[in-house]
Amino acid sequence: MNDNFLRACRGERTSPVPVWFMRQAGRYLPEYQEIRGKSDFLTMCKTPELAAEVTLQPVDLLGVDAAILFSDILIPLEAMGANLAFEEGRGPVLQPPVRSSEDLKRLHAIEPERDVPFVLETIKILRRELKGRVPLIGFAGAPFTLASYLIEGGGTKSFVNIKKMFFSNPELFRQVMDLITEVTISYLQAQIHAGAQAIQLFDTWAGVLTRHDFRDAALLYAKRIFSALRQSGVPMVYFVFNGGHLLDLVRLSGADVIGLDWRTDIETALFLMDDTNVVVQGNLDPCMLFLPEERLRDRIAEILYQGTMARSHIFNLGHGILPEIPPEKVKLAVDLIHELSG
Ligand code: CP3
Repeated sequence: MNDNFLRACRGERTSPVPVWFMRQAGRYLPEYQEIRGKSDFLTMCKTPELAAEVTLQPVDLLGVDAAILFSDILIPLEAMGANLAFEEGRGPVLQPPVRSSEDLKRLHAIEPERDVPFVLETIKILRRELKGRVPLIGFAGAPFTLASYLIEGGGTKSFVNIKKMFFSNPELFRQVMDLITEVTISYLQAQIHAGAQAIQLFDTWAGVLTRHDFRDAALLYAKRIFSALRQSGVPMVYFVFNGGHLLDLVRLSGADVIGLDWRTDIETALFLMDDTNVVVQGNLDPCMLFLPEERLRDRIAEILYQGTMARSHIFNLGHGILPEIPPEKVKLAVDLIHELSG
C-alpha cells in the first residue's frame, strides 16, 4: 500500500516525495501506441477495459505513486450535447461553437450514471485492479477552460470569442459558466462516488486572463466546485497553467493542493502566495526530460529542495509529458525523484 500521494495532499511530509506526471498515459509510451493503433482516442476513453489498461501502464512501467484516470477533460462537454471530435494533427474540434443563447439551448445538465457510465465503470475496474497499490486520481476541466473549447469551437491562440462573450455579453457568459459548473460538480461527485481518491481540476487556459478577470471569469466558478466537493473529504488539486501572475488568487480557491507549471519555481510561488503552509505540486519543465542524466539529477534535486520549503510537496511536471520524450528518461526521472527524496 503506497499512500504517499494522499498523505502529501493532506499536508504530511513524506519520504520519498510522491511523483506522478500529467499525461503519464500517452503517445510517448510504445505500450500506449500499441492499443491506440487499434482504436481511436475517443473509443479508448469510452471502453472501460481499454481506458483502465492504459491508466495502469505508467503505474507498472514507471513506478509512479498515483494513477490518473485515462479520459479527457472534454468528455463531459459531449455528454452535455456538444459535438466532439479529435482530428489527427488538429486536436479537439467542437462544432458548431456556442456563441448565442440559441446555441446554449442545445446543451443540458448531465446525469453521470446515464451520460458517462464508461467513466464510472473505468474507475471501478481500476480500484479493483489497483488493490490499493497506489491511489487513483479523477479529474475534470475547470469551467473557464471547458468554456473556451465550447465557445471557440476548439483550440485557439487569441481566445477572442470567449473574451468577446465575457466582455460584451456577460449574462450569456454567466449562463454558460453556471451550466458547466453544475455539470462539473455532478461529474466529479460521481467520480468520487465510483472510487476516485483525489481529484484535479485542470485550468489550462485561465492564464490568459488578467488578475481582475481571472476572479470573475474563472476563480469564482472553480471556488464553487471546490466548495461543493469539500464534504466528500477527498483531496483536491487546482492546476492553472501559465498562472504565475495569479498564484495568490489561486491560493484562495479552496483547493488543498496548488499545481505549478514550470515557469514559476516553488520558492517564488510560495513568496507570491505569501504563505509557506501550502501543499504544492510540480514543476519540472517536461522538456528537461531531454537533459542528460547528471544534469537532470541536479534540476530534480533543486525542485525537491524548494519543495521542502512548502508544507508538503508532490512531484510532477509543469505540464503534460510530450509524445517526443523517451520513456526511459521518464522512468529515470521517477527513480531519481525517489532516490533523492528517499
Ligand atoms: O494525464 C493523464 O494521463 C490522464 C488523461 C488526460 C488526457 N487529457 C489524455 C489525452 C488528461 C488529464 C487530459 C486533460 C486535458 N485534455 C487537458 C488539460 C491538461 C493540459 O494538457 O493542459 C486539455 C487541455 C485537454 C484537451 C486535449 N486532449 C487536447 C488539446 C488534446 C490534443 C493534443 C494532443 O496531445 O493530441 C487532447 C488529446 C489527448 N488527451 C490525448 C491524450 C492521451 C492524445 C490522444 C491521442 O492518443 O492521440
